[in-house]
Amino acid sequence: MASSLVVKLGNLIFKNPVLTASGTFGYGLEYKKYMDLNKLGGFIVKGLSVKEKLGNKPPRIVETPCGMLNAIGLQNIGVDRFIEEKLPKLENLNTHVIANIYGSEVSEFVEIAEKLDKEPKISAIEVNVSCPNVSAGGALFGKDPDMVFVLTASIKKVFSRPVIVKLTPNVEDIAFIAQAAEKGGADAVSLINTITGMVIDTKTKKPLLANKTGGLSGPAIYPVGVRMVYEVYEKVKIPIIGVGGIYSSDIALQYIMAGATLIQVGTANFIDPAISLEILKGIGEYLESEGIESISKLIGIAHAD
Ligand SMILES: Cc1cc2nc3c(=O)[nH]c(=O)nc-3n(C[C@H](O)[C@H](O)[C@H](O)COP(=O)(O)O)c2cc1C
Repeated sequence: MASSLVVKLGNLIFKNPVLTASGTFGYGLEYKKYMDLNKLGGFIVKGLSVKEKLGNKPPRIVETPCGMLNAIGLQNIGVDRFIEEKLPKLENLNTHVIANIYGSEVSEFVEIAEKLDKEPKISAIEVNVSCPNVSAGGALFGKDPDMVFVLTASIKKVFSRPVIVKLTPNVEDIAFIAQAAEKGGADAVSLINTITGMVIDTKTKKPLLANKTGGLSGPAIYPVGVRMVYEVYEKVKIPIIGVGGIYSSDIALQYIMAGATLIQVGTANFIDPAISLEILKGIGEYLESEGIESISKLIGIAHAD
């Protein structure tokens, strides 16, 4: 009998633990020609804001050894256009569609969550807390446990399905922030978002990105992500979604062994748009070869004495 890949997040059942990460998979539709989207556990759409955003000025992407640095600036079509133009085309899919959301005030997050609550095709929302809070003078939501608590609790009041809080690694103690999300009522946390970095052009002698700094992603960051998932697993009871540098089933399995219930494939989609299905296949093969009947047996196994 084939090993079971089914995992649960709250009352949501995922046919397998492989998701694709926000910002690296468009609105899902762009990837339809490369793969059968229904084979994924689910996918997470590009971060949505209240209004359409054009993002930062170019250059906004630079390749680095084993990764890339981006400062896209959260470009997106806005929640209303997403609901009108994209969501109807996703309705018939037999997989979970998760909306990633962001704002610069708590009220903006709440406004988006309220709108998405009326859309049954959205299985869950993932809250990107890596943005500055304008009313708190530009302090980053994700760095302040009190802000994470308030934000999560406010979104939980208006969104009836699971709320996932996506954490930034650019903090001293990520487990502390994860606990704040859990206290605020988060149904899961995902980690990690990109790590702040900079690349300097030695010809112009200036930072290469117009934004100066950007977010590092790709294989270079996976050991940081695995370490953080491991730390968070010891401090919270809610499920963890592991993301950061996953480009092979071996790395996906490392995240699961560290404590992730689900994983997300991000930058690797840019190298091979169907890589998430390869990763899924590899996870299944590993379970079979090890004689493990269910993926759930592996979650957090690296913590055992
Ligand atoms: C081009 C690009 C755009 C991204 N946009 C978003 C976004 O809109 N919201 C979000 O929460 N994360 C965003 N991310 C972060 C990814 O979802 C992921 O957390 C991060 O890239 C680490 O995973 P990876 O190394 O597999 O890419 C973006 C990443 C990249 C590379």
